[in-house]
Amino acid sequence: MNNYSFDDVAREKHMQEIRQRRAEQKKREHRQTVAFLFIFILVITGAVAYFLSSGNDNTEKQNIQQSSSEEQADTKPKIPSRKVEVKNGITYVDDILIVNKSYSLPSTYAPGLDPDAEKAFNQMAKAAKKDGIELFIFSAYRSYDEQKQIYDNYVVSRGETDTDRVSARPGFSEHQTGLAIDVNTTDFGFENTKEGKWLAKHCVEYGFIIRYPEGKSEFTDFDYEPWHIRYLGVETAKKVDESGLCLEEYLGVTSQYDK
Ligand code: DAL
Ligand code: ZN
Repeated sequence: MNNYSFDDVAREKHMQEIRQRRAEQKKREHRQTVAFLFIFILVITGAVAYFLSSGNDNTEKQNIQQSSSEEQADTKPKIPSRKVEVKNGITYVDDILIVNKSYSLPSTYAPGLDPDAEKAFNQMAKAAKKDGIELFIFSAYRSYDEQKQIYDNYVVSRGETDTDRVSARPGFSEHQTGLAIDVNTTDFGFENTKEGKWLAKHCVEYGFIIRYPEGKSEFTDFDYEPWHIRYLGVETAKKVDESGLCLEEYLGVTSQYDK
């Protein structure tokens, strides 16, 4: 049988207290570690969530910007790309011969009046006659030299600046192509005559356009000429007419002299 002294009991009690305190200390430390880990995981998870969501925001912003620029692109007028060819010094844009202050003809180019244009004009004049309207060719094909004479005469009477508003320099006149016709006159009052009104209304049906329309001088660089028609063929003439654009705008070309 063991006999414990008072000291032994007291020591044992003391040791128990120490063990108990240590156990409690360990528990506290464990709880602190768990709490620390919990907070650490919470912070890391929050940070990851934040970066992911801000990344998504940016993507969304990019998508919005992209879709809004796509919307803008959709609302922009579609500018068709044009095929430009120069054959023997003559420029064709989408197979349409273009002559203006930017695109000239060789002085040797002398095709005469285009047979298709002449035929179309005669059909138009016939139809006009049925409506009691007389249309005739006042001036159509003009050679380089004839144009030079006309231009030079204008310059003598009006000076170069005014002349350049109404008459093309030699090599720059559509009349040299054989595809342009001045109908009845070159009088500005033509617009208000029954012939001028009939021509403006019906010429497109025969493949012609009013080449230098009212309000388009900033593009053609010529004054309005209600009598000057240009043969394009019915299909193209209708397209240009329906576009509401002058030929320069329709083809996306300029009209200005180099000097
Ligand atoms: N009157 C036109 C512009 C020409 O001279 O060709
Ligand atoms: Zn003309």
